[in-house]
Amino acid sequence: MNTLLQVRGLAVNYGHVEAVREIDLDLPEGQITTLVGANGAGKTSTLLALSGLVRKRAGRVVFDGRDISSLAPHRIVSGGVVQVAEGRATLTTLTVRENLELGAYTRRDGLAARASDMEHVFTLFPALKERAQGLAGNLSGGEQQMLAIGRALMAKPRLLLLDEPSMGLAPIIVQDIFRTLRRINADGLTILLVEQNVRQALKVADRAYVLETGRIVLQGTGAELLAEPRVQQAYLGG
Ligand SMILES: Nc1ncnc2c1ncn2[C@@H]1O[C@H](COP(=O)(O)OP(=O)(O)OP(=O)(O)O)[C@@H](O)[C@H]1O
Ligand SMILES: [Mg+2]
Repeated sequence: MNTLLQVRGLAVNYGHVEAVREIDLDLPEGQITTLVGANGAGKTSTLLALSGLVRKRAGRVVFDGRDISSLAPHRIVSGGVVQVAEGRATLTTLTVRENLELGAYTRRDGLAARASDMEHVFTLFPALKERAQGLAGNLSGGEQQMLAIGRALMAKPRLLLLDEPSMGLAPIIVQDIFRTLRRINADGLTILLVEQNVRQALKVADRAYVLETGRIVLQGTGAELLAEPRVQQAYLGG
């Protein structure tokens, strides 16, 4: 299987804090990979470094055979690596449709392609279609997460990075979000999913990494890690 994203020796520091300590990742094309870990393990820092939004102290990031380690964030996005922000970060004073249009700002293709992609987002998330003209600020938490994902899809990603999409949402909404991620993945999109909801993330993931204090301590298939006693003890309540 083709490796779409290869990371070698990635390190991120904030002053003296070593948030990420030389980690390696391999994301197979077409699969869902998850990075799980507790508060402060370095998950967000890893994603931000891949997106070019924090400085890497060390490391190399190769996307589809091309070294993107030192590209500017907008070049990384237009290259096909698109992050859904933690905490959703939709623009609450703009409408749902305007938020989606903003997602496409790095694209150079025509209006027709964008319109058709917006229709696709509305098919994935019918609730957004109903509220297309409404302000994003009036959406529920789950709908805002959907909008954040939809906006990322409007950038036409080949790799989607998600930072804790389940955070703060009711279990039924979480199920919905994970189901949609599966569907997007089945359509061919490669996904890197960061989660504290370890059980759900391992269930949905083809490959998984466990991050503790900035280091990868375990890796395997999602099913392997679900069955791993160390994972069960530390993250799944025994
Ligand atoms: N801007 C910052 N300045 C200083 N230290 C930071 C900064 N952001 C994160 N850190 C520290 O870096 C480490 C990794 O944080 P990070 O946010 O990457 O973890 P995380 O796994 O995403 O945690 P969470 O599950 O809480 O989102 C932590 O020790 C955190 O306190
Ligand atoms: Mg985080």
